[in-house]
Amino acid sequence: MSSEERVQDPRALVFGQAAEEYDTGRPGYAPELVDEVLAYASLDGTTALEMGAGTGKASVLFAERNARLLCVEPDPQMAEVLRRNTAGHPRVSVEVSGFEEWQRGDRRFGLFLAATCWHWFDPARRWDLVHAALLPGGAVALLWNPHGVLDPDLHAELGEIDRRYGVPSSPHATLAADYGDRAGHWADGEEDPSGWPQAQCRQDGRFTALRSLRHGAQVHYDTERYLSMLTSISSYRVLPAEQRERALAETGRLLDARGGGIGMLHLTDLFLARRR
Ligand SMILES: C[S@@+](CC[C@H](N)C(=O)[O-])C[C@H]1O[C@@H](n2cnc3c(N)ncnc32)[C@H](O)[C@@H]1O
Repeated sequence: MSSEERVQDPRALVFGQAAEEYDTGRPGYAPELVDEVLAYASLDGTTALEMGAGTGKASVLFAERNARLLCVEPDPQMAEVLRRNTAGHPRVSVEVSGFEEWQRGDRRFGLFLAATCWHWFDPARRWDLVHAALLPGGAVALLWNPHGVLDPDLHAELGEIDRRYGVPSSPHATLAADYGDRAGHWADGEEDPSGWPQAQCRQDGRFTALRSLRHGAQVHYDTERYLSMLTSISSYRVLPAEQRERALAETGRLLDARGGGIGMLHLTDLFLARRR
């Protein structure tokens, strides 16, 4: 299929319907790894480009460290929350566009950043687009923040609810132990576009100094906060409203019966590379 004929996954376009829930419910990224990115990139006055910035979960962490940042986000409602979240940071600017249509002009950047959205970009074009957007020596930083359920029994019971309501994926779909012990372990054996980017980047040949890093912490969500996070997730947004509400209500009742929440492992997995 040519990139012009690419059929956009409808789940890529549903975030804005719940931009506020996304912003309150979704977890952020480990600040320790944001520091790693900035040390690796050593921006030296150049601007960082963040593609698919959403409501600014990663952007704010970079802005707080004084990075000059151009955030690009295709969904106008997500971009509105992003503007609000970065309003106190004059070095941050926002443009509304998808990566593939974005008018870069002759601008080039010291860092290309994408947090939990590499898999939404056109697999046939994304390395070319990243390469073109970077200055020689510019850095690539791709982040994910997968979650896993710590308690295997709760994990199994939640899985049963999801199957009944046809929820295709969720943050509790994976047992914490299954994420393995290194960045990207969860994607082993998967074909792109959802796989860990290392093999594809190496094969591309235009990047060097590839690194994978992981930070992990245990987090407890009370029922309300956890349901708010689920509401923001694309696989729940695409369900018919009534089905979604019933799935969320039953999930809430189970969590309340199991002590009022859910204990999860919160990982930040980071992939770094540098344009030759
Ligand atoms: C899971 S959210 C991540 C948002 C944010 N980076 C974060 O970490 O919270 C995925 C984001 O990718 C954006 N997106 C989807 N397709 C895109 C594309 N082709 N180009 C740029 N962004 C895209 C969505 O609008 C959404 O904001």
